[in-house]
Amino acid sequence: MCGIVGYVGKELAAPILIESLKRLEYRGYDSAGITVLNESLETYKTVGKIADLELILPERIIAYTGIGHTRWATHGKPETKNAHPHMSSGISLVHNGIIENYLQLKERLIECGYVFESDTDTEVIAHLLNNKMYKGAKKLDLLTAVRETISELEGSYAIAVLCSDEPGCLVFARKDSPLVIGIGDDGYYAASDVTAFLKYTRKVIYVDDHEVGAIRPGSIEIFDPRGNLLAKEMHTVEWDLEAAEKAGYEHFMLKEIHEQPASIQNTFAGKLLELEGTVKMDELYLSPEQIKHLRRATIIACGTSWNAGALGKYLFEKLAGVHTDIETASEFRYASPVLCGEELTIAITQSGETADTLAAVRSSRSYGCRNIAITNVVGSTITRESDSVIYTRAGPEIGVAATKTFTAQLIILYMLAIHMGRVRGVLSAGEAKSLIVNIKRIPGQIQKILNRKESIRECAEQFADKRDYFFIGRYLNFPIALEGALKLKEISYIHAEGYAAGELKHGPLALLTEDTPVVAIATRGHTYDKMLSNIKEVKARNATVIAVANEDDTEIEKYVDVVLRIPPSHEMTSPVLSSVVLQLLAYYTALAKGCSIDKPRNLAKSVTVE
Ligand code: M6R
Repeated sequence: MCGIVGYVGKELAAPILIESLKRLEYRGYDSAGITVLNESLETYKTVGKIADLELILPERIIAYTGIGHTRWATHGKPETKNAHPHMSSGISLVHNGIIENYLQLKERLIECGYVFESDTDTEVIAHLLNNKMYKGAKKLDLLTAVRETISELEGSYAIAVLCSDEPGCLVFARKDSPLVIGIGDDGYYAASDVTAFLKYTRKVIYVDDHEVGAIRPGSIEIFDPRGNLLAKEMHTVEWDLEAAEKAGYEHFMLKEIHEQPASIQNTFAGKLLELEGTVKMDELYLSPEQIKHLRRATIIACGTSWNAGALGKYLFEKLAGVHTDIETASEFRYASPVLCGEELTIAITQSGETADTLAAVRSSRSYGCRNIAITNVVGSTITRESDSVIYTRAGPEIGVAATKTFTAQLIILYMLAIHMGRVRGVLSAGEAKSLIVNIKRIPGQIQKILNRKESIRECAEQFADKRDYFFIGRYLNFPIALEGALKLKEISYIHAEGYAAGELKHGPLALLTEDTPVVAIATRGHTYDKMLSNIKEVKARNATVIAVANEDDTEIEKYVDVVLRIPPSHEMTSPVLSSVVLQLLAYYTALAKGCSIDKPRNLAKSVTVE
């Protein structure tokens, strides 16, 4: 995730900016930069670590105002030209967020004569500001120009801006990206999170959405969207540094589970065209003709990404009418796949570095297949070895157990299936619209689950001492059962198996006793009645059943021991919600058992060896 910092005060700005950026390193980044303002703007930026940035800084920079940035690439590769700050003569700006309408703005600005030096969405803000300040009927001050500029932006942003015509002034604004101001004895700080300046001050003011403000030596002003000066409350942060990195959550995994409303929103931002009933997939280098004539798709992945792919298979077949195989990368690479050229493979890998997935893709490409990569890491190896790359914009995931990247992968798969279904004429505009509306509802529905997580915690604690667990589901919920079982075994060390509910009677029923909790994903849909039959089968063996069901389902509680609820939802999108419930179930089970949640034994975040 990108991080922004800023300082205006009595101390030299550069060392404070560097120290603050180091405090944001835990968020993950691929490049960094700072701008300091004395009489003019001086900008230094580079790919790599903050230590690399320090190497290119002059020994002593006399400036008391500055901004800085750590970049986690979203638009444009990790290259120095894409690192922030971004400039437009006399203006320097850092940004965290995604500008959804940047392409339209960019075209307009190019027509006005602006030359773009980066591939980022951010650079449009700098040029737009410059345009407002210097090219309009009357010259605007920086604060007014920022206010006018953000009224044209769609998407999310936290920005900090400097202008060489206004020495000592830093202007900031936010919408849907975090921004906090620190009030120190020697000056003011701005940052994406308090860890950046906790070393200097614990007194903070939280900037809210649509607010704009200016810091000048000895003063801070924050305005509402109508331009009214606000009297904002000052808070004192009690967290220590480690707690602050986790935004107060006990573990990164819990923080990442809670980030899902935002990570999903970022992943579909600007892509879902509800009115047209289509999905914008500019990154997909497949012509409509190629999509129409697609005979088969092969999804290749490992672990959690494989589970996402298993759901993808159902989506591609149902929504796009494309025969789809799902392959385990470590098997595929040594098997004898029957592939002819012109076929499509889709590699799903959060890290983009999983050795087995890379090897399987290389093998498929040797047959002439075109590959689409779905990954969370810009510039990762898979991106260099694929024909098209679609990014999950989930931000870096630090917990070893994949959570927010899994749900972001699912969102990409929905969008890809809708896009292909529309192009192939399998899905009507009306059907696509209804799905799009339901995808857009997911962030709010997840928030409701998070708000009521205590019931999941109670359930987890009740069964934390069990040795074995089963997870069952049908159709779209089968991959979610597999993922629920993987999450539980990974972090709580409880033996767990995910099963297609209809398969239980072909063997696993023999293992069920009253000491075996069975988690049954029984959300509304065309397999609901069949799930009820499977639940009765399980109850007949005296096993405990924990159902994941819709809020408005009053039938289910007659048959099961515990019900974990998800909001009323569409059959196609409810698996995303159920997976959040199962992430929390695994998390609280591991917590009750005192396990090492963020770094489970024997596991690595990125498996770069065979
Ligand atoms: O980076 P990838 O998505 O390729 O990683 C694949 C698996 O190693 C990964 O999903 C693993 O199963 C996770 N730790 C699961 O939480």
